Amino acid sequence: MGCISYVNGRYVPHRRALVHVEDRGYQFADGVYEVFAVANGHPVDEVEHLQRLERSLSALKIAWPMAPAALRLVMREVIGRNRIDRFGILYLQVTRGVAARNHAFPRAARSSLVITARRLPPPEPATARLGVRVITLPDQRWKRCDIKSIGLAANVLGKQAALDAGASEAWMVDDAGFVTEGTTSNAWIVTKAGELITRQPDAAILSGITRHAVLALAREHAVRFVERPFSVGEAKAAAEAFLTSTTALVKPVVAIDGTPVGSGGVGPFTERLLDLYLQHLNQAGS
Ligand code: PDD
Repeated sequence: MGCISYVNGRYVPHRRALVHVEDRGYQFADGVYEVFAVANGHPVDEVEHLQRLERSLSALKIAWPMAPAALRLVMREVIGRNRIDRFGILYLQVTRGVAARNHAFPRAARSSLVITARRLPPPEPATARLGVRVITLPDQRWKRCDIKSIGLAANVLGKQAALDAGASEAWMVDDAGFVTEGTTSNAWIVTKAGELITRQPDAAILSGITRHAVLALAREHAVRFVERPFSVGEAKAAAEAFLTSTTALVKPVVAIDGTPVGSGGVGPFTERLLDLYLQHLNQAGS
């Protein structure tokens, strides 16, 4: 069975999920998005994702395409129609709508809403534990990275640079030499003194929902953490490093710019937080 997508009021086969060429998302990247994990048929951390959607929409002055309660129902319908009873991913995008091309806000446009979803095999702890390599490069993005904007050209360039260098992710570095975040993930280190560090949620990073969940787990399990910037040098000298995102979960980073992190393997802090996060995912809907 093919995937079913939702496009502006209709559930359609994915190959016929089309938007107009004058959708402002297509013309101006004038829109925002969310990516949800789906576990046990339920969107994981749904409230937090919808709160972030609210912040993104309000920062760009884009109207909700429908009331949040209705949106939750549509999301469930998309999950059901795609038979995501165990694990999967749901992508949701809202743009300012369709209007003749003009930078100014259109007077009459209605926000466009697109939702796609697909089943995925549930995460296997052994695979989730496999480490990845990251490179570092200058952060070339705009000054509102806290908005989950669909304008992702700098992230796309950074991700491709990482892949071309034989790595999986690029950690972007601000003008002061501090790591902001990855192109599709948040960045973390564990110092040799055993302190968990991730940048504070300012306008230089997207405040990740996985990041939020991992900090809550750290708090609950008395893992010491500090939210502050860290430099590339500090990261290379760290005992452990990892990244977090809805799709990558808690992913060990084993090398930065070719320098092994710690032992060059997966560290005990990262492994523990990954295990706790996998439990958190499995609790979705209960
Ligand atoms: N990316 N930072 C950036 C720039 C991101 O694109 C993402 C997520 C994150 C982590 O956020 P979260 O934990 O809420 O997934 C941080 C998604 C998965 C994507 O663009 O596909």
